[in-house]
Amino acid sequence: MGLYHSIDAAPFLYYFIFAVVTVVMKLDIELYLTKNVMKENKYDNSHFFNQYSQMSRSVNGLQGAGEWHVLKKMFPDFKGKRVLDLGCGFGWHCRYAMEQGAISVLGIDLSEKMLTEARKINSLPGIEYQRIAIEDFDFPANAFDVVISSLAFHYLEDFGKICDKVHYSLSKAGTFAFSVEHPIFTAQGLQDWYYDEKGNRIHWPVDQYANQGIRKANFLGVEVTKYHKTLTTYISSLIKSGFEIIGISEPEPEKALLESIPEMKDELRRPMFLILSATKK
Ligand SMILES: C[S@@+](CC[C@H](N)C(=O)[O-])C[C@H]1O[C@@H](n2cnc3c(N)ncnc32)[C@H](O)[C@@H]1O
Repeated sequence: MGLYHSIDAAPFLYYFIFAVVTVVMKLDIELYLTKNVMKENKYDNSHFFNQYSQMSRSVNGLQGAGEWHVLKKMFPDFKGKRVLDLGCGFGWHCRYAMEQGAISVLGIDLSEKMLTEARKINSLPGIEYQRIAIEDFDFPANAFDVVISSLAFHYLEDFGKICDKVHYSLSKAGTFAFSVEHPIFTAQGLQDWYYDEKGNRIHWPVDQYANQGIRKANFLGVEVTKYHKTLTTYISSLIKSGFEIIGISEPEPEKALLESIPEMKDELRRPMFLILSATKK
């Protein structure tokens, strides 16, 4: 009787185990997809990467970046500091921090192609590059004295979460300094001027300002996913996480650039970058 019973139950038992394994595997795959594959990684797309590699900021490093003259003034003294760079790209800021006396610099980025270039052109003893999404990085407690980021946070959906994690990871009175694309620049989405029939720039469109979230921008001729956030979100997230804001800037091009490149004058018509610096209270 008992034997009959166990033989009868066997197919159901196998079916049950099979169902449980299937569900667990499905959950695992979904988790993997959410964490790794679902994040858009245009910088590893060969065409986009080649375009990005030809930009002045890629070829000439920090001197070729329009906002650098302002950003560098908002960085703290790096001497003796442990530094984390979120979305480090080619690693120019990692090199700068190390050359300014940091004791260690960790640069993290989602793109293998960007990191390969960083390791080639901006490797110095004390700098480590790691491939991981900012959202998936396991921010250790009290591990850094300075956290920087240049033009990466507009690729992230939830800025508040990042603020909390950075705050947790910073030492007491540590600095968080970063640049993002300005909310006026990201609001409408396409990120281009309105032109007249002759191709003259009429104005920069600002629309859907309060509607935060996903945008499909045209960057270097490629559709790129970005996330629009309001100025209030950037500022209040910092305050809510326990930071004291010590600097804010909407940088304009340097005078020399304005005088030598005529199109640069258009950069005065709307802000492109927002830079904030804050300290852990
Ligand atoms: C405009 S580039 C800036 C690179 C560098 N910080 C600089 O200013 O030269 C943006 C960088 O952010 C990285 N990035 C985008 N989304 C990311 C994410 N979710 N996690 C980590 N890095 C990301 C890209 O791979 C790219 O290297």
